[in-house]
Amino acid sequence: MPASPDLIIRNALIPGGRIVDITICEGRVVHVGAGGTGAEQTIDARGNLCLPGAIDMHVHMRGGSRQAYKETWSTGTISAVAGGVTMVVDQPNTLPPLDTRETFRNRVAEAREGSFCRFGINGAVTPHADLAGLREEGALAFGETFAAASSYGEAIGSGDLKRCFKELHRLDALVTIHCEEVREGRDVTLATHSDLRPGSGEAAAVSSICDLFSPGQRSHFCHLSSAASFRAACTSFEVMPHHLFLSQEMFAGEDAHGKVNPPIRTEKERKELWALWDRIPVIASDHAPHSVEEKSGPFEAAPAGLPGVETMVPLLLAAVYDGRVALASVLEKVVSRPAEILRIPAPGLVSGAAADIAIYPKESIPITAECLHSRAGWTPYEGMSGVFPEVVVCNGRMVYDGGEFTFGAGEWVRGQGYKCPQDE
Ligand code: DOR
Ligand code: ZN
Repeated sequence: MPASPDLIIRNALIPGGRIVDITICEGRVVHVGAGGTGAEQTIDARGNLCLPGAIDMHVHMRGGSRQAYKETWSTGTISAVAGGVTMVVDQPNTLPPLDTRETFRNRVAEAREGSFCRFGINGAVTPHADLAGLREEGALAFGETFAAASSYGEAIGSGDLKRCFKELHRLDALVTIHCEEVREGRDVTLATHSDLRPGSGEAAAVSSICDLFSPGQRSHFCHLSSAASFRAACTSFEVMPHHLFLSQEMFAGEDAHGKVNPPIRTEKERKELWALWDRIPVIASDHAPHSVEEKSGPFEAAPAGLPGVETMVPLLLAAVYDGRVALASVLEKVVSRPAEILRIPAPGLVSGAAADIAIYPKESIPITAECLHSRAGWTPYEGMSGVFPEVVVCNGRMVYDGGEFTFGAGEWVRGQGYKCPQDE
């Protein structure tokens, strides 16, 4: 054990039921057991549950000059941290999309200045994207790739998709894909929205995308919303909290606050997803904030997307406390599997792991927009139960402590293709 650790978390209840001291030095867990003395900082976690920080592999942090009114790197990652997420993976459907070296570099610079937690940034898959260049710039993965159009994402045709998949396979890069079948018609309620982008169409789109992959392609399907799509998936996939916790029946039909792609389904379909809980590899939030004004207008014109990075782990932990699912299964879906798929180290409460840790109380509380931190200023989970962390450590530093946030731990997690400029 080092002579003077930076931080010791004492009396922490960890998964498995042990009560331990967690000693942290230079951003890493160096000992789990009885802690020594002389740490610069000590936290008493008595009575609380200590978990590794979550990796949310699907967020839209917005920002830039045109979308900062929806969210910025600092508001979005403050929201992440307050929800126990210590790493976010930003999606590249920004304005403009991240499909060139230059837009990518600017995004990294923006994130470095604003992010309160670790971050990865994905490259965009568009017909003219510089995929090899983006890989060298440090793109963590590629996508979400819009195989169907969505807010701020134009659909890319199957010829271009096939060519891009081939190139990404050659680069040994992970590609993530948004699959849907979009039908023509008036889109005026949550029910019509789901009819025009049905679960069966999503499953068919997933199947046809599988046919375009090269053998052994590193691939991952974004936000699958139907049991049929789970069956069609030939590779890993993620499911979003809004498809697990929300159904059309919970909203007024024309309420665009529930509008998201893929759409919120019926209560019956929602229950079908829970029945397949063990088959779900990853849960990610698809945090896609839009302003209250944008979501309050006519349904047809409203953008699709919901804020969710801050409520993902709290909702899941409330389900654990209610006895619906096992804690270990949640940790697999929000920590270890995302890390494995992204080929990055997973935080953990073991010696040598990155010290990304969240400390949770034993009680859930009602979720209210007032207590959340996204610039969106609203939540579709109003009134539902959530278990929110009281303290969050990222990179060995306390980034959140009972309502206070500290900047400085936000580290960029580069993709494996990153080439340092000096190497050239
Ligand atoms: O509902 C959605 N909103 N789905 C997406 O795929 C994109 C997202 C956004 O960026 O607003
Ligand atoms: Zn998407």
